[in-house]
Amino acid sequence: MDRVIDHLRHEHQTILTAVDKAEAMADSGALGATVSPASLQALRDFFTLYVHGLHQRKEDSTLFPWLRLKGVYEGAGCVGLLAAEHVDVAKAFPEDLSGAAWPAALQTYCSLLRNHIRREDDVIFPLVLRLGTPQDAKELLREFGAIDASATRAGLEDVLRAVDALAYAR
Ligand SMILES: [Fe+2]
Ligand SMILES: [Fe+2]
Repeated sequence: MDRVIDHLRHEHQTILTAVDKAEAMADSGALGATVSPASLQALRDFFTLYVHGLHQRKEDSTLFPWLRLKGVYEGAGCVGLLAAEHVDVAKAFPEDLSGAAWPAALQTYCSLLRNHIRREDDVIFPLVLRLGTPQDAKELLREFGAIDASATRAGLEDVLRAVDALAYAR
């Protein structure tokens, strides 16, 4: 299952790099600096397509259902909690990235997302490593690949390039 976890951890790292930039951008905005609408749009596209689309889709439609099949308790257990967090995190992304409120709203979003990723890294991924068989890994990676292929067709590579080009850093 190492390749399954490497795949998801690599995406977490890509997300955390963008979160660093989003936080730096929010800091600038909070201090009254002008942040270009194009930069904010690049962030919105990234979080919409890469985080809530591609990455969370892999977890929601393949990893979490597989963990449920393995008997990981659903109700108040960690899988149910993390699936609910996907909805909460997506909802927390600020609708309005203009005006005075967006820096604080973006900071809140970033900290929710950071905490969510930490919980997956610390709780779910060790469980996946323990429960998965080589055959499970093969099937999960095949499903991840199908999701990657459809995301690439939907223009994800352009979105990744745009976020990569943002000059903000922490
Ligand atoms: Fe997640
Ligand atoms: Fe994740």
